[in-house]
Amino acid sequence: QNSDSQVLIKMYSEAAKLYSHILLKTENGTPALKYLNGRDLDNGLIETFDLGYAPNNSNLLLQFFKDRKIDDSTLRKSGLFAENQEGELFDRFRDRVMVPITDEAGNIIAFSGRILNKSEGTAKYMNSPETPIFNKSKALFNLSNAKKAIRDNKSVILFEGFMDVISAYKAGVTNGVASMGTSLTDQQLYTLSRLTNQINVCYDGDDPGVEATYRALTQLNDDRFSYGVISVPNQKDPDEYIRSDGADKFKNLVENGVQTPMSFILNYFRRNYNLNNEHDQIEFLNRSLNEIVKLQSPVEIDMYVGKIADEMGVSKEAINKELDTLRRKMA
Ligand code: UTP
Ligand code: MN
Ligand code: MN
Ligand code: MN
Ligand code: MN
Repeated sequence: QNSDSQVLIKMYSEAAKLYSHILLKTENGTPALKYLNGRDLDNGLIETFDLGYAPNNSNLLLQFFKDRKIDDSTLRKSGLFAENQEGELFDRFRDRVMVPITDEAGNIIAFSGRILNKSEGTAKYMNSPETPIFNKSKALFNLSNAKKAIRDNKSVILFEGFMDVISAYKAGVTNGVASMGTSLTDQQLYTLSRLTNQINVCYDGDDPGVEATYRALTQLNDDRFSYGVISVPNQKDPDEYIRSDGADKFKNLVENGVQTPMSFILNYFRRNYNLNNEHDQIEFLNRSLNEIVKLQSPVEIDMYVGKIADEMGVSKEAINKELDTLRRKMA
């Protein structure tokens, strides 16, 4: 790393310390601390994840770094500031809970800031822009913390959100990472491939989360990995589920409730069809066979053929004939 990057990494580390101090040690931070405590995050967990609070002040961080003789061009490169119409810098993050994002070595390279209260017109999470040290398509939230657990568990759990990773960690599920809103990039997959070959997707149980899981499974066809799905019940996200149903139930889900991609996909299709109606039954059958035909393992194929045959009240022979037709079309 060049000296430029080293300066930026030092700035992020100092900014995180300042935000953390404000959250935990000052009156300014009280509402944010209450907010986090209200989400069942105790001070120990807050310190583990280096959470902080950026107060509602446009030049707190700006003055902090000017006092430390950081030059204007470095301030601009850092991504910690935005620019007004006059070209003057001001603190990018204001009145937000600050979540530091680290690189694989644990250096803080970016922030995501969460608003305390629901408000119209402003994003719930605001993320750092790309900088010389932050490449959004490379970073994975919590990777540096989770590395050892990923190796030990021989699997990684992919969550949607920061709070899901943090709550899971609190519940004792420490091999979780989050890709910060986007689907996994090739660079992130490459990073993970050096640690494990099992990716278990645990997205939110709400409609957008289920849709995103389906999309992820149809896009994640990187054959370095096996995939699994952990479905969170009752439309909840993992954080909400842990808080309502408890750590033990979540751990049980993670340890015993990993579905195969095919089992998830069949459930996903079932949701979208009215299986009392013959037209929908045939559509469901066709869509399912189009997925089953992609499987490699004859045992797996036979298993799902059996399930679908039972469910639809048709013979396995008929389904296998159908699959042969599909295979001929594909060839
Ligand atoms: P969600 O909408 O599920 O939020 O977005 P959440 O994680 O449950 O947030 P809490 O629990 O209300 O705090 C999932 C993830 O998508 C990214 C964040 O990484 C978030 O954790 N996201 C979401 C953004 O980057 N910006 C946004 O405005 C919203
Ligand atoms: Mn979500
Ligand atoms: Mn969520
Ligand atoms: Mn949500
Ligand atoms: Mn949430």
